[in-house]
Amino acid sequence: TADDPRPTRAAAATADSAFIRACRREPVPHTPVWFMRQAGRSLPEYRKVREGTGMLESCMRPDLVTEITLQPVRRHKVDAAIYFSDIVVPLKAIGLDLDIKPGIGPVVAQPIRTRADLDRLRPLDPDDVSYVAEAVGMLTEELGSTPLIGFAGAPFTLASYLVEGGPSRNHEHTKALMYGEPQLWADLLDRLAGITAAFLTVQIEAGASAVQLFDSWVGALAPDDYRRSVMPASAKVFDAVARYGVPRIHFGVGTGELLGLMGQAGADVVGVDWRVPLDEAASRVGRHKALQGNLDPAVLFAPRQVVETKAREVLHAAQAGPGHIFNLGHGVLPSTDPDALTRLVEFVHTTTEAR
Ligand code: CP3
Repeated sequence: TADDPRPTRAAAATADSAFIRACRREPVPHTPVWFMRQAGRSLPEYRKVREGTGMLESCMRPDLVTEITLQPVRRHKVDAAIYFSDIVVPLKAIGLDLDIKPGIGPVVAQPIRTRADLDRLRPLDPDDVSYVAEAVGMLTEELGSTPLIGFAGAPFTLASYLVEGGPSRNHEHTKALMYGEPQLWADLLDRLAGITAAFLTVQIEAGASAVQLFDSWVGALAPDDYRRSVMPASAKVFDAVARYGVPRIHFGVGTGELLGLMGQAGADVVGVDWRVPLDEAASRVGRHKALQGNLDPAVLFAPRQVVETKAREVLHAAQAGPGHIFNLGHGVLPSTDPDALTRLVEFVHTTTEAR
């Protein structure tokens, strides 16, 4: 229609990259590779520039964000950059009292558990995160034809931090709310969907070429509960950004039983952890979507030959589906040897170029 946005300049400049082509299930010169958490503690240059600056403070400084986002692209020659930020940044931006504690993760001062608490979740205004638009603009300028992936936390995973007040193994308060007060839960997720959609929109309009919705902890749910209590909110996020036409990636950990539904929520690419082989994932997701994954991040601690054998197994399983983006099954572990990552990128490129 007439008011459909045209591709941003950055999206047009990256449309022919291996990463974007793979997301669209088009032929590629080599299998594209990037790593979740590629920017971060595994890199000495990251630890150096972060010295003395808190995590959330770093996310609000466009110069630092730009440098940290570019570090793994320079070092590893990955096929995409991921915007350096955190899933709780938009929640901080609307005024919630939260922090990211080193070695722990996001911690929320006053958990959200009642209807009155919902008032603290106001909509996100683009001006609340002007530093994001600024950093994305600087980055896409620097990156040229290399795509920048924008991201956000999905409503369930954000809710789990807000309701628990911090990281949680069993998500008991979150599930108590979901099962016990379904209308309050639905309203909470709907508000979070609005915030998430607004945060992704800022990144896309500033030049992100793709977006990933991280529902890291949704694997804690059974499929029926996911369908009923989570999928509508995640679908709302994907619908809100559909008009931009940028590839939408959806990822969670331990989501083997949810892969089909996570695709149906509106993703173009479904991220898979290491527990489900990609040929099996393809049959769960359907042939019309691309897959991303799925080497066990702990494999990188094994000898080089083992890494290559396991990477070859991932590539072999992926041939069952036409679009494949090579990644780990979850984020890079902080003590990973960065050289092992660089070698893995080169291995995937050279192995798949020959095909
Ligand atoms: O390179 C990239 O992938 C981009 C950066 C990125 C960060 N967080 C930086 C970060 C991304 C994509 C995230 C997303 C994120 N944050 C998720 C979804 C991805 C996933 O891993 O499942 C989740 C669940 C969070 C919440 C969160 N923030 C956790 C669990 C932690 C780790 C706590 C710790 O210290 O072990 C954080 C902090 C965080 N986010 C760090 C980084 C680099 C570490 C803090 C630091 O370096 O001081």
